[in-house]
Amino acid sequence: MQAAPFETMDDSPDIDRSFGAQSVASDERRARIRRVFEAVAPRYDLMNDLMSGGLHRGWKRTLARRVAACSGQVIDLAGGTGDVARLLLGPGRQVTVIDPSTAMMDIGRRRRGMQGVHWLHGEAEQLPLADASVDLLVVSFGLRNATQLFRSLQEVRRVLKPGAHFACLEFSRPRAWLAPAYDLHSRWVIPALGAAVARHPEAYRYLVESIRRFPDQAEFATLLRQAGFAEVHFEDLLFGIACLHFGTCPHEFARVRTSPHESARVSTSQQQFA
Ligand SMILES: C[S@@+](CC[C@H](N)C(=O)[O-])C[C@H]1O[C@@H](n2cnc3c(N)ncnc32)[C@H](O)[C@@H]1O
Repeated sequence: MQAAPFETMDDSPDIDRSFGAQSVASDERRARIRRVFEAVAPRYDLMNDLMSGGLHRGWKRTLARRVAACSGQVIDLAGGTGDVARLLLGPGRQVTVIDPSTAMMDIGRRRRGMQGVHWLHGEAEQLPLADASVDLLVVSFGLRNATQLFRSLQEVRRVLKPGAHFACLEFSRPRAWLAPAYDLHSRWVIPALGAAVARHPEAYRYLVESIRRFPDQAEFATLLRQAGFAEVHFEDLLFGIACLHFGTCPHEFARVRTSPHESARVSTSQQQFA
């Protein structure tokens, strides 16, 4: 039997109302997450390399290879400093990073190889994009920061053209035999690095908790189907430590109409797309 879709915040998974080990109101969660990324932005890329031993680079390259056949309007949602956006640049593609953190995007803008990437301020829960306007949307290590996960997935589906592709790279559940070592790494090594390098141990404790609370491979696939995606499947990376999730927007969503509220929001924000 399939679970009912999470239509309201009260029905949503507890990721929507948690900050680290604490339970917080959703507005408070959103504000705290915003502060986390503003604070860690200058050392974010270095921390990624240290925490994952550089593995995140290979995972992002795999993501880019899996979507290599897509062209047109490409969105790197929660794109941060633009790691993935840079890999997605190519002929026939217009690549846009969407992220709520000005600090993260400012670091990205200054990096080499970013010419051609557009930067747009926005959140997954309310994408500043028109219905059926996107050919490919990817998100890498970003969705667990959304304050309303299910609504964010519905938003992604809304902006995709019929037949367009969604790919999500996220930490997931490693195989049972790997879990104890992985647990030690996340419980001790990551917060210690967060204290020593990023000087924000609490930010990295949040990171570890948000990974724990994020739906596992099968649960996330179920959420994608409930949010209206077709051709849902996933691919484990490094024995499930990370996972690539895929889905497409079904052709019947071609007839979805834009509400007046959305039309107003979209017409102002679309000017930034040019
Ligand atoms: C862990 S970083 C990932 C950055 C980049 N995608 C990568 O893989 O390196 C998470 C990003 O999510 C962004 N973020 C936080 N809340 C968000 C939301 N509600 N919607 C979209 N992005 C959000 C943060 O500002 C941050 O840049």
